[in-house]
Amino acid sequence: MTDYGKSSTEQKRIEQEVERLFAILGLNIQTKTYKNYVILDFEGHGYFCKQGFTKLPRAVSTLNSGQPWLLFWLLHTLELLQEPITQETKLAVIEYLKACKCPKTGAFCGGPYQLPHLAPTYAAVSALMILDMEEALKIIDVEGIKNFIISMKHESIPGAFRMHHQGESDMRAIYCAISVASILGILDKEVTKDTPEFIARCQTYEGGLGGEPFSEAHGGFTYCGLASLYLMGKTHLVDLEAMLEWCVSRQMEKEGGFNGRTNKLVDSCYSFWIGGCFPVLKETLGIPTKYSLYDNLALQAYILVACQSPMGLFDKPGSSPDYYHTAYSLGGLSLAQHCTGTPQFVFKESALELENNHFLFNVTSEKVKKAVNFFKNK
Ligand code: FPP
Ligand code: ZN
Repeated sequence: MTDYGKSSTEQKRIEQEVERLFAILGLNIQTKTYKNYVILDFEGHGYFCKQGFTKLPRAVSTLNSGQPWLLFWLLHTLELLQEPITQETKLAVIEYLKACKCPKTGAFCGGPYQLPHLAPTYAAVSALMILDMEEALKIIDVEGIKNFIISMKHESIPGAFRMHHQGESDMRAIYCAISVASILGILDKEVTKDTPEFIARCQTYEGGLGGEPFSEAHGGFTYCGLASLYLMGKTHLVDLEAMLEWCVSRQMEKEGGFNGRTNKLVDSCYSFWIGGCFPVLKETLGIPTKYSLYDNLALQAYILVACQSPMGLFDKPGSSPDYYHTAYSLGGLSLAQHCTGTPQFVFKESALELENNHFLFNVTSEKVKKAVNFFKNK
């Protein structure tokens, strides 16, 4: 008997569990029929996130160098759910992020007195955009961040960025640098030099992008590279059709959710990382908005039926909810609701619309527009 190993056993288990959950609802995603429906628990997920500002679960309280990330995930979930954020919380977030600013460079650190780093800089700028207040955007040191971004350009790999001084270099660093520079209106030749060509070198034989040349194609890195290319106006440097084929192949036949790479398990966070690639591919390949390049209703069903706990969302059945998966699955759910230009919902009876998420920044489109205008007029 052929032994397909642990991963195929796990794959079977997840498929069966998702099928069992779908069966409870009488849901047949292929024929688009169902007897029951589930709602998105706005209240439960909102409460889960509001709690996170003051009382962290033990697993997250160790996330000492990811504090701006935590704030970004909480605030982004709340803005998608259209849950109001109190003035007191907003002011506390601004004060906290001020304390995370590096006094020397103006870039943000993972926490007070830590090293300036591109990832928390991206997360802090995103969190401040979501607050929707001039006082928040004003704490951003545009010139300092621009110099920091340039200082992160790799000294020996043309076009690559390091995450921090002498730190690791991969596609995440490129996205953090390019997306922040784009929002702050500082995306010039000095920032972008050789970067599009470097990203193109990361496309693999499968069509997706790896984190660095000769690495395996992965959903997170493909999103980071493709969104960065789009922001720099250079998507033509990669084989977009091969990338589309690879992205389409990420949708799991039975589960309806995406995996992040070939032969891996479904995971709700790729609803954003892969879901966010489609609008870029659609636009650059000239495909009309009204078409969806993936089964957006099957993706919605996976998130709603198989990834919700009473408070927060998780990656796949059997996991516990966490703030990262809550934010990224809802970010992807919003894209799946809005990807054809007219809102579409898998369960019409529970057509609970999320705020429109921006596919290039993972912050709602309205806040992106306001922040871009703010920095343009500065
Ligand atoms: C594999 O994890 C995960 C990676 C190789 C990194 C993925 C990159 C991102 C999610 C992008 C991050 C972006 C920013 C802006 C910081 P795994 O092996 O646990 O998961 P898998 O089985 O799904 O591949
Ligand atoms: Zn995940």
